[in-house]
Amino acid sequence: MEAEVRRQTYLKALEIDFYLLRGQNGVAESNIASESESFSADTWDVLRGSIAECTRCALHQTRTQTVFGVGDPTADWMIIGEAPGQEEDRRGEPFVGRAGKLLDQMLRSVGLDRESVFIANILKCRPPNNRDPIQEEASACRNYLEQQIDFVRPKIILAVGRVAAQQLLLTDTPVGRMRGKKYCMPDREIPVVVTYHPAYLLRSPTQKRKGWEDLLFARKILREVEL
Ligand code: URA
Repeated sequence: MEAEVRRQTYLKALEIDFYLLRGQNGVAESNIASESESFSADTWDVLRGSIAECTRCALHQTRTQTVFGVGDPTADWMIIGEAPGQEEDRRGEPFVGRAGKLLDQMLRSVGLDRESVFIANILKCRPPNNRDPIQEEASACRNYLEQQIDFVRPKIILAVGRVAAQQLLLTDTPVGRMRGKKYCMPDREIPVVVTYHPAYLLRSPTQKRKGWEDLLFARKILREVEL
């Protein structure tokens, strides 16, 4: 255990919260996965702690707290949104406002809930007045999200909304054109499906059906991956 603490100290000094070995086919093989359960839990907590203390961009000056993410860290599904809003900043949990309630309903429509998936955001801190994230902030936060993805190793990622989809997939294609297609997380073999942000669906309720179709599409991709 002493050696592990020492190793974590070195990694922290290097701003590396844990490392992954990549398999020959490019699939991430976590050295952590082969270690003990408690080590995995420690690693997840180290990452959570690093994020809580983060000062990599100016948003740390205006946040109430960071929003790490919520759900099952071994989930098949990872849902990725944009950034915490006012309510999320206050409560420290993603998608707990009105849009979050709709996201919960959408998840339930395909037999999921926030305990059985892992929900995170591109940014861990709220941008003032809920403005769009700027590139500098998204870049500063990307490594945290990638570490979460590599830890959870989801079988499918659902990117909700323009910012999440474009940041994850490093593209400027509009969401409407990305829907219904199977993408791949850069440098990883994880399928990504894009859907509308629930906040948009609240403003345009006639589009809700498309959101549901996107979830069905994601479930179909997941089933193919599992075959
Ligand atoms: N919108 C997001 O994209 N994420 C949240 O956590 C809340 C609202």
